[in-house]
Amino acid sequence: MQSIKFKNGDEMPLLGLGTWKSDEGEAYKAVQEAIRIGYRHIDCAFNYGNEREIGQAIADMITAGEIRRKELWITSKLWNDSHRKEHVLPAIQRSLDDLQLEYLDLYLIHWPVALKHGVGFPKSSEEFVSLEEVPLIETWEAMIDLHSRGLTRHIGVSNFNVPKIKHLTEQSGFQPEMNQVEMHPYLTQNELVNFAREMGMGLTAYSPLGSNDRPARIRGQRPVLMEDEVVVDIAKEEEISPAQVLIAFILQRGVAAIPKSSNPARLRQNFETLNVHLKEEQIQRLLQLNQDLRYIDGTTWTVPGSPNTLESIWKL
Ligand code: A2P
Repeated sequence: MQSIKFKNGDEMPLLGLGTWKSDEGEAYKAVQEAIRIGYRHIDCAFNYGNEREIGQAIADMITAGEIRRKELWITSKLWNDSHRKEHVLPAIQRSLDDLQLEYLDLYLIHWPVALKHGVGFPKSSEEFVSLEEVPLIETWEAMIDLHSRGLTRHIGVSNFNVPKIKHLTEQSGFQPEMNQVEMHPYLTQNELVNFAREMGMGLTAYSPLGSNDRPARIRGQRPVLMEDEVVVDIAKEEEISPAQVLIAFILQRGVAAIPKSSNPARLRQNFETLNVHLKEEQIQRLLQLNQDLRYIDGTTWTVPGSPNTLESIWKL
């Protein structure tokens, strides 16, 4: 499979399995099914609430001799409530325990937003901590320490913009190796794609299919990406599905894609996108759909009285 190559020679498979919104009872089957199909990259996070189940799925396959640990690429993410330096090591240890692993391949700071310890999703402004109080560089330095201890082979960030990545790099001398962000034809992220190419940083696209199963609390009124006329037209031209058009669009930019599915047929269909090649003219038509539209727009972190604004998250 095509991959993102890191400076030490490690390779992250370009297509991975997304596990956000894989519900209890679903994640176990989805992960095993995916590995049997050929997926070798599983994207996880503490906050998705299913790392124990995923860990069990992987452990059972390793015990059965179906896969070896070193054949897999496992990513997890530090939740927003554990940004203080003393909380970072216990947080990765919890994910490692739940996933039944000795090391992660990649560990990311999930959001450039801090919450009080123990908070999952904030219900009031009191549950936030400002970035003045817990600066991102404090968290990043603690991530570098995890890397030196060998608990994770690579470290990076998620939902970060160019200024925040430059700041971490300048302050620490250690550039995030990966940034995982929402990306699809309605949010093409050209600035980040160019920056990542220039800096030799990896990019991963989450919600590549438009996350139509996103939870009610963040649903809002948004167009359905998989029903977009241009996406559907290109699918017809190539005799593939709209989902395959969207996945190929990401992979052909050299960006990793982590579509989520809990359905065996769709897992297989998404995997078979590795055999799809869109024409340059089709990529251009998809790029023209950009409207900087975020399905995951960050408003969860901007409740009145909180220290965050959409500008502070995405622009500053
Ligand atoms: P399901 O899990 O039932 O397959 P995203 O990765 O952008 O968050 O999107 C995930 C959503 O897209 C889920 O609702 C998932 O449903 C659905 N999905 C995944 N693969 C496909 C596919 N090939 N065709 C249609 N829908 C898909």
